[in-house]
Amino acid sequence: MNHPLEQLRDDALREIEAASDEQALEATRIKYLGKSGSISAWGEQTIESRTGQFRSQKESGALSEIDVTLPGIGRSGYSGYGGYARSGAGGYSGYSAKEIGSLHPLTQMLERSIQIFRRMGFALADGPDVEDEWHCFDALNMPPEHPARNEQDTFYLSDGRLLRTHTSTVQIRAMESAPPPLRVIAPGAAYRRDEIDATHSAQFHQIEGLYVDKNVSVADLKGTLEFFMRELFGPDTEVQFRLHYFPFTEPSLEIYVKSKALKKGEQWIEVAGSGMVHPAVFEEVNKASGDNAYDPEKWTGYAFGLGMDRLAMILFDIPDIRLFAQNDLRFLRQFA
Ligand code: PHE
Repeated sequence: MNHPLEQLRDDALREIEAASDEQALEATRIKYLGKSGSISAWGEQTIESRTGQFRSQKESGALSEIDVTLPGIGRSGYSGYGGYARSGAGGYSGYSAKEIGSLHPLTQMLERSIQIFRRMGFALADGPDVEDEWHCFDALNMPPEHPARNEQDTFYLSDGRLLRTHTSTVQIRAMESAPPPLRVIAPGAAYRRDEIDATHSAQFHQIEGLYVDKNVSVADLKGTLEFFMRELFGPDTEVQFRLHYFPFTEPSLEIYVKSKALKKGEQWIEVAGSGMVHPAVFEEVNKASGDNAYDPEKWTGYAFGLGMDRLAMILFDIPDIRLFAQNDLRFLRQFA
C-alpha cells in the first residue's frame, strides 16, 4: 500500500489537472494546503501525538523523583513535626508550621457562633461599618434629641456619616431589602467613643440577630438564645433575662450567662442585649420603603446583639479586651 502522503500527492495532482477555472484551482489549493487542508491535518496529527509522548515522558520522569513514602509536614504542628520542620529536611525547611498561621480567637468565636445560628435557619446579612445617622439612630427609634444617642456617641466623618455604634443598623438594611418573614444574623464590627480599658475598646464586635414572622414571641427569643448559649458554653449553662431599656425594642432584655464549666464560673456575666422589635422601627422601615410590608399589626419580631469580644473573653478566659488588637504572637499562639 502507498504511504498516505503519496496517496495525497496523487489525488492533489489529479484534481489540479482537472480544475476547469481559477476558482476551482483555488478550492483545490485550500483543500490540500490550507490551514485545515489534508496535508496540514496529516502533519498536525503526527506532531501532536509526538508532543504527547514527550510530555508524558517528562512527567513520569519528574514523578519518579518524588518519594511518596517520606513523612509529610504537619500543618498544626509545633508538637508533632515542629522539631522536624525547624531542623529542616532539605528544601522544605522554609515551611515551618509557625509561618502557616491560624485563625484569630475572635474569628474562631465568630465562626462557632455563626455555625450554631445557621443550624437554626438564620441567613447571613451584611451592612457597612461607615453608616449614615438614619440607619444607626433615627430608624431605630432614636431621633436626634434622644438621650440614648449620647451614651453611644461615636466617630463622625466630615461628611456627616459615622462609624456604626452597633450592628443593629443591619436590622434596618435587611428589612429594607426583603419583605417578611425574615431570619438573619449579621456579624461585624461596631465602634464607640468609650474610655479604653480592660473591658472597653473603641472597636468591638457583635452578632446582630433579627427574626420577623407571624406570632413571634418572647418565648421564641428566649428559646433561641438559651439554645445558643448552651451550644457555646455547654449544657449546664444557666441563662438569665433581665428587663432593660433599648429604644428599638419593647420589652427589652439583657442576657446574662453563668456556667460552672467556665473559669468565671459562679458569676453572672452580661453577654447580649435583646428584645421584641418596637413597632416604631417597623413603621420607620415602611416609611422609607414607601409601602406597608412590615405592618406592625401583622408581623412581630425579636432582635438581639451579642457581644463577641465578651463571649470570646469568657470562653477562652481572656482578661483584657485590648489583647485582641495588639497582635502579640505570644497571645495569638495560644489559640493556634
Ligand atoms: N444594639 C444594642 C447594643 O449594641 C443591642 C441590641 C440589639 C439590643 C438588638 C436589642 C436588640 O447595645
